[in-house]
Amino acid sequence: MKHTKIAELLESDHFLQDFTAKGWVRAFRSNRFIALNDGSTINNLQCVLDFENTPEEILNEINIGAAISVTGTLKESEGKGQRVEIEVKNIEILGTANPEEVKKTILSPKRHTLEKLREQAHLRVRTNTFSAVMRVRSQLSFAVHQYFNQNGFNYVNTPIITGSDAEGAGEMFKVTNFDLNNAPKNEDGSINYKEDFFGKEANLTVSGQLEGETYALGLGQIYTFGPTFRAENSNTSRHLAEFWMIEPEVAFCDLDGNMDLAEDFIKHVINHVLDNCDDDLAFLENRVIQEDKSKPQAERAPMALREKLRFIVDNNFKRVSYTEAIDILKNSKPNKKKKFNYIIEEWGADLQSEHERYLVEKHFKCPVILFDYPANIKAFYMRLNEDGKTVRAMDILFPGIGEIVGGSQREERLDILQTKMKELGVDEKELWWYLDTRRFGTCVHSGFGLGFERLVLFATGMTNIRDVIPYPRTPKSAEF
Ligand code: 4AD
Ligand code: MG
Repeated sequence: MKHTKIAELLESDHFLQDFTAKGWVRAFRSNRFIALNDGSTINNLQCVLDFENTPEEILNEINIGAAISVTGTLKESEGKGQRVEIEVKNIEILGTANPEEVKKTILSPKRHTLEKLREQAHLRVRTNTFSAVMRVRSQLSFAVHQYFNQNGFNYVNTPIITGSDAEGAGEMFKVTNFDLNNAPKNEDGSINYKEDFFGKEANLTVSGQLEGETYALGLGQIYTFGPTFRAENSNTSRHLAEFWMIEPEVAFCDLDGNMDLAEDFIKHVINHVLDNCDDDLAFLENRVIQEDKSKPQAERAPMALREKLRFIVDNNFKRVSYTEAIDILKNSKPNKKKKFNYIIEEWGADLQSEHERYLVEKHFKCPVILFDYPANIKAFYMRLNEDGKTVRAMDILFPGIGEIVGGSQREERLDILQTKMKELGVDEKELWWYLDTRRFGTCVHSGFGLGFERLVLFATGMTNIRDVIPYPRTPKSAEF
């Protein structure tokens, strides 16, 4: 008999019919009630066993963590806590789990810290928290593709191994097949990359933007959604060395259009999880509420998870220029009382996450789009404003997260771009192909990058980015 997903059985009205379900035992009580989970939903299927007629050797193997198959009749449940249950006629042990061994793992039925779960990342998806997070992540990912597909964007796969290191978005990981102890050297003792696999230095990409731009100036509207790598030593709850980024790029679109796109896109994907992940969101919402009980009032989440998500969907993001933001920050209490680690003295200061979070969480209390940043704290490819000192950059800041999106209108004027590259020491020879886009049919165009894991953090109410990706890569950690 083909087996039926538990998510489907829990919604089913086909009472008195027989079904087969397969999954992992979450609990077994009174030698009679099995809580079975197959990952299709956060909810377990109650399987009621006629233990008097079940052989001893089978009963002994119904342990937490074991994989089993049950066949039986779907009934309305008499017990509390579930609508339906399966009255088991036949049970098969598919994969045993030794209880003594299980006790040593996070599968054992007690509260484990998130740190402990991280050490057993290969098993943590069998917990409620992680299965919920991963289902929401999957739905968000689907919604990303859905949004762009519905809006006429082409999905482009930009290279993961890149021959250019010019974007300057972060430190890069080298890609080589040299024997590091015995790499060919030039006469001056430096490594001879001409003999390396690609005949030149190669790196893992920090962003698909520059290649994405070349495709937008042909396909019109494109997006990338792929892994990116940054070798910064940022040991924070917001940084990964390997993370997924979504980067749309649109021809004939200025910064205002770019902000509209980002806002509309984020609202779409959040709406999608509100519509499709309610059980998981309800579970995660309650998880935060329980966790917050042990925290002082000031550190608790100001809104319940789903309320927070609805707030994002229902309200306009606040658009504020960098200059306005600096004025607000300069006059803010934490700045005057020197509570910030970095005191804002004057226009031109780079904003730290403490400042971004003050603006979003304390001042505006809603998502904020900051735009028109000083040119010298932003990348070379951003379009210079008429004032000569600011660029058409935008960052979107989210409560509890800080920066979730970074983007800009691109400098489409060849001469200005070249001057800027010279100033910043970006090698024209290396980016000859990028400059070609400004030589042949250049046009106003814009795009942004959204850090997918930061979005998942926000949507799930989790607080550490290591807990929203299956196998996090961070400084000194690449287990599994
Ligand atoms: O602001 P960033 O560096 O922008 C770019 O890479 C541009 N090329 C994007 C573009 O215009 N196409 O990165 C974009 C976003 C950030 O806002 C943040 O959400 C995320 O990527 N991000 C990280 N997420 C996790 N770990 C890290 N180390 C991250 N660095 C950036
Ligand atoms: Mg940024």
